[in-house]
Amino acid sequence: MTPSRRQPARRRTAVLATVPVAVAALLGAAGPTAPGSTGAPGAGDPYFPLSGNGGYDVRHYDLTLRYDTSARRLDATAVLTARATQRLTRFDLDLTGLKVTAVTVDRTQADFRRDGQELVVTPRHALRAGQEFRVTVAYHGTPGPVTDPDGSADGWIPTDDGAFVAGEPQGAMTWFPANAHPRDKASYDFTITVPEGRTAVANGVLLGQRTAGGKTTFRWRETQPMAAYLATATIGKFQVERYTTRDGTQVYNAVDAREARAAAPVLKKLPSVLEWESKLFGPYPFRAAGAIVDHAPDVGYALETQTRPVYDSAPDLDTLVHESAHQWFGDSVTLTAWKDIWLNEGFATYAEWLYAEQHDGRSAQQAFDSLYARPASDELWAYPPGDPGSGGNIFGTPVYARGAMALHELRRAVGDRDFFRILRAWATGHRGGHGTTAQFVRLAEATSGKRLDGLFHTWLYTSGKPNRP
Ligand code: TRP
Ligand code: ZN
Repeated sequence: MTPSRRQPARRRTAVLATVPVAVAALLGAAGPTAPGSTGAPGAGDPYFPLSGNGGYDVRHYDLTLRYDTSARRLDATAVLTARATQRLTRFDLDLTGLKVTAVTVDRTQADFRRDGQELVVTPRHALRAGQEFRVTVAYHGTPGPVTDPDGSADGWIPTDDGAFVAGEPQGAMTWFPANAHPRDKASYDFTITVPEGRTAVANGVLLGQRTAGGKTTFRWRETQPMAAYLATATIGKFQVERYTTRDGTQVYNAVDAREARAAAPVLKKLPSVLEWESKLFGPYPFRAAGAIVDHAPDVGYALETQTRPVYDSAPDLDTLVHESAHQWFGDSVTLTAWKDIWLNEGFATYAEWLYAEQHDGRSAQQAFDSLYARPASDELWAYPPGDPGSGGNIFGTPVYARGAMALHELRRAVGDRDFFRILRAWATGHRGGHGTTAQFVRLAEATSGKRLDGLFHTWLYTSGKPNRP
């Protein structure tokens, strides 16, 4: 169990950055539906009050990106197909940095202005509640990452040969205009043009690639619903490997040559890891799979980008198991609020424990015991995983390790048979959609016929080190 491998080393240094978040929380307190017919500037998430927006729901993103790797310049057009959930005279998209040159709504020029991370769009004609509409945004500039409340960077992170692109929790807005809260999932098309010799890797399946005039264009498509934070368009000099697994999953691996030797033995295990996880969690939720192994020494973490996780360096097997488990827990079954992050990280960490247990490693009980042995002053007990308290805490040890401990306690309470039924029912019942902690607790109680509120209260919501179970 090594959550630190996926967490930037500087995570604990930037605690004070949470102050502006608290201020912003007050602004977001109105919730997703602002009064009148203007769309709210946030989705109502107290951890990231301005992430996402109110008043509409995106169905599809069609992103056309041209990236000049030496000038680090992006020229792009985003076409969003959306549906108004209320009458709208005005609505927001999330976009930070970059210059917007034109916005149209249903092919008619719209007024727009920038306000921090909000791109505020006023269409010529108000949108009716329920109306489907299409927004086109033309933009360009030199994208860069945002700094998260925990001090880590996410979004578009330039590298020496391209860019490492990972948007959790709030970096999607650094490279495309979006309704950037996980509550709003959509399908995606990507058309990415890069200098010949570079490879652009996004989510889903590769529809085709074409080289002309010294540039190569890659077309990617993800048809299954995806949260904006799970989108990638990682660019570099990559060695590419493609194959189809026994069950028809299309695998596309892109590996930086500097990481190739270390990555090879781990990547070889991807099909067997996905197969093993499919047995435990139900069928693999996507048509495509793979890995992007970049050489991005400043990043400090990997991300479970949908269908194809992005690694900042060659992953170890634990990390591969972890990011693969996220395809079920996080990507297919997605959060509705960042407070529930343990549903992603606790589950992916527990998958590592299960993998070790079933592959000649230590048992989950041993993993639990060695964590439980940590003194009450250890950071593991610093805050409860079900209520980490701020956006700066969502990738902390309590979320990963104590989140996994909560699942282990559930397993001990209900027994293996019901525990694995619960995991599977969670992944299959919410497949392609969303899930909340309250729903998970209800599922666990319904499946086991036991009252479990006390157990979850202790392990998810109580401060400090719980008493010996
Ligand atoms: N979700 C990632 C994982 O556990 C970790 C991660 C993504 C992260 N973005 C981050 C960690 C930003 C710290 C900061 O696989
Ligand atoms: Zn994770």
